[in-house]
Amino acid sequence: MRRKLVAGNWKMHGSHAANAELLAGITAARPFGCDVAVCVPTPYLSQAAVALAGSDVRWGAQDCSAHAQGAYTGEVSVAMLAEFGCRYVIVGHSERRQYHAETDQLVADKAKAALASGLTPIVCVGETLAQREAGETELVVKRQLSAVIHALGHCAGEMVVAYEPVWAIGTGQVATPEQAQAVHALLRAQLKAATPHAEAMQILYGGSMKPDNAAVLLAQPDIDGGLIGGASLKAADFVAICRAAG
Ligand code: 13P
Repeated sequence: MRRKLVAGNWKMHGSHAANAELLAGITAARPFGCDVAVCVPTPYLSQAAVALAGSDVRWGAQDCSAHAQGAYTGEVSVAMLAEFGCRYVIVGHSERRQYHAETDQLVADKAKAALASGLTPIVCVGETLAQREAGETELVVKRQLSAVIHALGHCAGEMVVAYEPVWAIGTGQVATPEQAQAVHALLRAQLKAATPHAEAMQILYGGSMKPDNAAVLLAQPDIDGGLIGGASLKAADFVAICRAAG
């Protein structure tokens, strides 16, 4: 039985005061019966590290550079994230792919850099509405994952994968449990062909997961947790999803 992971992706939200309240609300609700993490904006990593120290709630970043160091203005290296005590870093979120033109290869390079610094990459894959309607879902997610599998080689079993259908992100239009499970199953099959650890790997669902739909999604055999956007910004909602996973 795989342990589930519920990770909050705060995106570009937060303030010192709001974060303090949110983090206090999450830690006060412990213990959870699943792995729990928050992926916060970079300037708030030290706040998360202090607030979560001594708890089993983990923290992470939302992106990283593929480069180790150098003249890359505005970028943040995985070594820097590791110094903040990050456990996770999200790579390849659809908002990065869409607004920052991140390619499959760049996402793969970022995932590789993360693992090399001891961070667990949460690798996002997912199709747009147009791609789903054109019957290209399988093709798209397999292509996205394949680039990362290829880059990670024998370490592929150490990543976390997140299936985030783009049409479900921030729209309230959640994938049905059957739609999500079908994609998770084919991602698991792809991982099985690449690593002996596929059965133990966590494949998260993300896209309008809320307290009222989490349990049924998390009951699917290949859905091992959630990557939560909007509902991770309110402690009560996030905690309710963690409870549904635990
Ligand atoms: P929402 O939960 O707001 O749909 O966002 C999902 C997401 O993009 C998490 O990475």
